[in-house]
Amino acid sequence: MELRSRKFTAAIDQGTTSTRVFIFDERGEPVAKHQEEFRQIYPHSGWVEHDPFLLVKSVENCIEAATNQFTAAGYSTRDICALGITNQRETSLVWDIRNGEVLHNAIVWADSRTAHIVRQLKLEDTANAVLPKTGLPLSTYPSAVKVKWILEHSKVARDVYEAGYLAFGTVDTWLLYNLAEGHSGEKLHVTDVTNASRTMFLNINTLEYDPLLVKFFGLEKLLLPKVASSSNSTAYGVLAKGPLKGLRITGCLGDQSAALVGQKAFEQGMAKNTYGTGCFMLYNTGSQPVLSKNGLLTTVAYQFENKPPVYALEGSIAVAGSAVKFLRDNLGIIQEANEIGELAMSVQDSGGVVFVTAFAGLFAPYWVDDAQGTIFGITNYTKKEHICRATIEATCFQTKAIMDAMEKDSGITIKNLAVDGGMSNSDECMQLQADIIGIDVDRPAMRETTALGAAIAAGFGANIWRSFSELDRVNSRNHRKFSARTTPTTRTKRFRHWERAVAMSKGWLTSE
Ligand code: G3P
Repeated sequence: MELRSRKFTAAIDQGTTSTRVFIFDERGEPVAKHQEEFRQIYPHSGWVEHDPFLLVKSVENCIEAATNQFTAAGYSTRDICALGITNQRETSLVWDIRNGEVLHNAIVWADSRTAHIVRQLKLEDTANAVLPKTGLPLSTYPSAVKVKWILEHSKVARDVYEAGYLAFGTVDTWLLYNLAEGHSGEKLHVTDVTNASRTMFLNINTLEYDPLLVKFFGLEKLLLPKVASSSNSTAYGVLAKGPLKGLRITGCLGDQSAALVGQKAFEQGMAKNTYGTGCFMLYNTGSQPVLSKNGLLTTVAYQFENKPPVYALEGSIAVAGSAVKFLRDNLGIIQEANEIGELAMSVQDSGGVVFVTAFAGLFAPYWVDDAQGTIFGITNYTKKEHICRATIEATCFQTKAIMDAMEKDSGITIKNLAVDGGMSNSDECMQLQADIIGIDVDRPAMRETTALGAAIAAGFGANIWRSFSELDRVNSRNHRKFSARTTPTTRTKRFRHWERAVAMSKGWLTSE
């Protein structure tokens, strides 16, 4: 077979419920891809863990399968120029730096076991200093409280910590530690600035770890990874094993940052909404961090090598695709996730049902740790189609609440919403989204923007691209627009209904 020679970039997308590996061509089209779901561990209500080695294994499997597909299509791995890594953020791991021994399962970002720690921390004298430094309100979401919980509950982790050998990492760091090596063959303990900005250890103004923050959480002896820019020609080393052994890793960034980059939302005022396990809207605020007065997070959006950082306001929804999974796996009212859209649209409305999908509290813009998943308005008339519709609407209403908060914080009206991720594949879901927010929803043809963003960061780190204008041809084909078919009066009425349900879902746990 004749070998076709072009330039390719690979990307690992290690998400909350699945891992994917892509190999993209210069136009951002995936020429090979592989996806693998892995086991979610739910030890108690509100707890979510991952097996750290299963995460590594799933990446290895996906690299192997995607590479096989790539070579079977007649391409040569010699033409893959760089690899980018993107990952579920905040999910926290600890291990012994001396031997890589894992000391606890990864505690996943959506896990709410730390609610009591958060309540105590909020009472500390210095608690008010945290938000201006980190851009994050104290909640169960960032990494710091998860590590604190591990040290309070695992003697073995505590002993290693006291001895000064406890390494911390988000998933990017863990993957790099296990799968990569430095240019001189050394082990890596490194992260990028976007992932670091979700730990609550990083001061987002200086882009350095802040001793006061580390002290606030009582974690002074924790070994924190070195922080590097999201595209970087040296910091992330090379792959140390597998069929792409020796491939340079020149990009690393959290998945929501990667999606922003993959949507090419490089200008201030551009926004994207990614529907994954959760749903996350990022709004590019340029070179200055903007602190929210309306329940949004401030985060580092991305930093290209030798360039200043770019910041974003973020609205994080904890439950989106995971609610669809819940209907499939826990209630069994759908067999396949993609059935939900058609069922939802087979009824005229939700029949008065509102589903507040607060499985582990509510994130932006509400931030209620003790909200509970609650379905309101069930009658004899209610059918599974109504529940399906209310499940999709829950994400769409939270998106609306976040957009309203973004408009208040920025003073700018958002004119259209760029979308990607699992649920965006459904025309029905995107139509419902447009109907609820009242502005156009803009969906690219190639919706693997998270992986593409990692590939773009890597491409910049490896000098495949040098300026954003060179990306004009990347992922530019066939966008589809969904426009609202509702009146402002209906939208306002339905949103009020949702907000009332949110108010009633609060305090269920603490009222006992
Ligand atoms: O902050 C959590 C987020 O990074 C997870 O993304 O796509 O796995 O839901 P996703």
